[in-house]
Amino acid sequence: MFKRIRSYCLFGIKAVPVSVEVDASQGLPGFTLVGLPDNAVRESRERVVSAIRCIGKVVTGFRTTVNLSPADLRKEGSALDLPLAIGMLVSTGELAVPSLDRYVLVGELSLDGLLKPVRGVLSIAMSLPKDGSVLVIPRANAQEASLVEGLNFICADSLKECVDYLEAGGNSGMCIGGGLKELCSPDACDVPDFENVVGMEGVKRALEVAAAGAHNFLLVGSPGAGKTLCARCLPGILPEMTEQEVLETTRIHSCARRAGDSGGFKPVTARPFRSPHHSASMVSLVGGGTRLAPGEASLAHNGVLFLDELPEFNRSVLEALREPMEEGSISVSRASGTVTWPARFMMGAAMNPCPCGFAMDPKRVCTCLPDARKRYREKISGPLLDRIDIQVSVPPVETKMFEGNPKGESSATIRERVCRARAIQRERFAGTPYKSNAEMSSEKAFRYAAMSKPTERFAIAAADKMNLSARGYYRLLKVSRTIADLRGNGNVEIDDLSEALRYRAYG
Ligand SMILES: Nc1ncnc2c1ncn2[C@@H]1O[C@H](COP(=O)(O)OP(=O)(O)OP(=O)(O)O)[C@@H](O)[C@H]1O
Ligand SMILES: [Mg+2]
Ligand SMILES: [Zn+2]
Repeated sequence: MFKRIRSYCLFGIKAVPVSVEVDASQGLPGFTLVGLPDNAVRESRERVVSAIRCIGKVVTGFRTTVNLSPADLRKEGSALDLPLAIGMLVSTGELAVPSLDRYVLVGELSLDGLLKPVRGVLSIAMSLPKDGSVLVIPRANAQEASLVEGLNFICADSLKECVDYLEAGGNSGMCIGGGLKELCSPDACDVPDFENVVGMEGVKRALEVAAAGAHNFLLVGSPGAGKTLCARCLPGILPEMTEQEVLETTRIHSCARRAGDSGGFKPVTARPFRSPHHSASMVSLVGGGTRLAPGEASLAHNGVLFLDELPEFNRSVLEALREPMEEGSISVSRASGTVTWPARFMMGAAMNPCPCGFAMDPKRVCTCLPDARKRYREKISGPLLDRIDIQVSVPPVETKMFEGNPKGESSATIRERVCRARAIQRERFAGTPYKSNAEMSSEKAFRYAAMSKPTERFAIAAADKMNLSARGYYRLLKVSRTIADLRGNGNVEIDDLSEALRYRAYG
């Protein structure tokens, strides 16, 4: 009997409908699988036959042909196990499912018939047509599916449970997605608080401005000055994610999880802070590879990508970040087509000024040869530096500042100011694709950073003196706009400009 089962395959972040067509007929027993399966799909027959045997049914002894359509799309991963198993059961007459057409199945099977989670379920749930279709998934994927409001889905722990639900038909086992309303608020307990950072007022302020306008930032200073510490505090002052952002980011994380990662998958409700090690490869940073998974830059979507020890990163890896920093997305081309992942992140970086680390230290002497210092700086290309709006030097904190373990301003207080500044930007950019000052185009920067004539003269004179490029000048305007927003001021004033000019320690 010929049967068609609906399923989905991932292509980048997109979920593409796939039908698993199974035809089991009398004849010389055999199994043929066509339709561009990858190795994991090809191996699924072994898992499926064993899982089916575990529930006491037999599907061998038939001449079985399976076609995965559309035939020109490469099918990857193990998510087609479940549709294949159900397909073999119905086509051999072992199982009768009322209105089989309304079910869309994904799931990996183990040899003993347990259902294991697969990646990208949120993408699949979001692209499921709202025509009464029912998504059937492993239970470990249930949280993702329930993020889609009104989605009809069935989750099961095993093939047996799934077969029971399908056989009963109707609404048996049916759940309905509740949307984002039921989301718990993020717990940010492992983020250090700015109140425990002694001194460093200038750096804290620079990070506040960076967070307020989503500007890229670079911290340069001696070893042990507190660069990494300050950057790690940053998530504590970033504004909450909107529902749209939660969906966008969770979707990417759902595509990146390894199939077979058991345990519940939590939606991403706090802005991601990704800090890949400097030995990271191109694939792990921008995505791709055989698994065609998103990289760190995409996992940082709507959050922060923090590159500690910036000069230690492979130069070509850093250069690959230029595209997403400009476009907000990454495209990876492969023989089977081009996949695009969203990647709109705030880039943060930290580094020492020279190989020994003390070139900017008032108390220590740098022992590097001028040539070594130059080579060290050249590890980071000009165009990359040019995209970093806020560059600050981090002076070492004087030891006497630590006396009595003084407390500074708390992250929560700083965050309130950041959120107010972001609210102003939301209003400003309503109806445009921009969300923050850092994203706005040059001509918008010119329009929104309104200045009085004398202030403008000051800006131009300063830019002239500092030999700013055209982009550097617009960058100055954007940062000034954010500083004015933090003060709740409509116009950019000389004070805002002079603070923005200070954030150019390195470029
Ligand atoms: N201002 C500060 N207040 C409190 N603790 C601090 C401060 N500065 C540094 N520290 C402490 O010093 C340690 C080292 O700081 P951190 O790792 O941030 O230095 P770094 O600037 O990143 O150095 P490197 O260049 O070697 O990476 C931190 O774990 C932190 O406990
Ligand atoms: Mg560090
Ligand atoms: Zn040095």
